[in-house]
Amino acid sequence: MAISSLGYIGITAHDPRQWLDLCTRDLGMMPARALPGESWGVPGDPADPGPKSAGCGVGPDGSVFLKMDEWQWRVAVHPADGAPGLAYLGFDADTKQGFEDLLSTLEAKGVDVEKCDGSQAAKRSVRELARLSDPAGNALEIFWGPTIDRKFISPHGHEFITGKLGFGHLNLFVSQLEACYDFYTEVLGFRLSDYLIIDADAGLSANFLHCNPRHHTVALTRVGDVRGVHHIMFQMENLDQVGKALTRVVKAGWTITSTLGRHVNDRMLSFYFRGPSGFDIEIGCEGLLLDDSWTPNQFCEGDVWGHEGLTPEAIAEMASELERRG
Ligand SMILES: [Fe+2]
Repeated sequence: MAISSLGYIGITAHDPRQWLDLCTRDLGMMPARALPGESWGVPGDPADPGPKSAGCGVGPDGSVFLKMDEWQWRVAVHPADGAPGLAYLGFDADTKQGFEDLLSTLEAKGVDVEKCDGSQAAKRSVRELARLSDPAGNALEIFWGPTIDRKFISPHGHEFITGKLGFGHLNLFVSQLEACYDFYTEVLGFRLSDYLIIDADAGLSANFLHCNPRHHTVALTRVGDVRGVHHIMFQMENLDQVGKALTRVVKAGWTITSTLGRHVNDRMLSFYFRGPSGFDIEIGCEGLLLDDSWTPNQFCEGDVWGHEGLTPEAIAEMASELERRG
């Protein structure tokens, strides 16, 4: 049994409220209407009228929870102890049976998995939860039964492309590329969409993997011996929404790291900017959906047009910066 989508992401930041401002004001998300584990209230009970957080999206420890569709939350940002970055990825196993089958597969493959108790699952707003690591050391979680809150209303009146495709995608820098590739494909059940050889002799490449029709949910890139996130992607419905987001992001003073452009492989029409945790955020539309007839291929060149700034040198520079930060 394979995972079905990337359900949620946990990030760390020195100031999680920067993410709250960015994601609500500039990108059109909402603060979570209730924090994970918090009571939704009991109708007619004055002693429990509703979530104590009152929809502010900020927990007692300063963590921020963001809502971008009918899930209670999709993005969590926790205060960073050290260098900010990725805290965890939450992969959806869809059903209890799928969850248990995946646990069996992981155990059969000798992967260390920690099955979490109910209170830990409640902190992610899911029914059951387990924790593990990928070979690069990224913290992964698998779960089933997310909490659904159907009252998403974007302050900018748009929707994100999520649902069964998951919340978006992310590109990871991994140094143990072969081990990670085998882990994501042979253990978690991802399939290769396409790949780009950067330097065959040095073993440097980018590998785009899917677990549902979204062209890729996880990309594994090795540009050196560094672990981290290059970017995460949120997808909007059309170019007007992406253009409006670009206008807001520029106006808010975020640094654009790639102009508008269209990728060759996933056809995403997008721009990139540097987010509050040191990695990039891609905002796009029109991403390619794959069907069962898709076969893996190597693609040539990065872009149909645009994406000025998204150069191999810039990507290598970000990897070096991650290495310096440790
Ligand atoms: Fe991307």
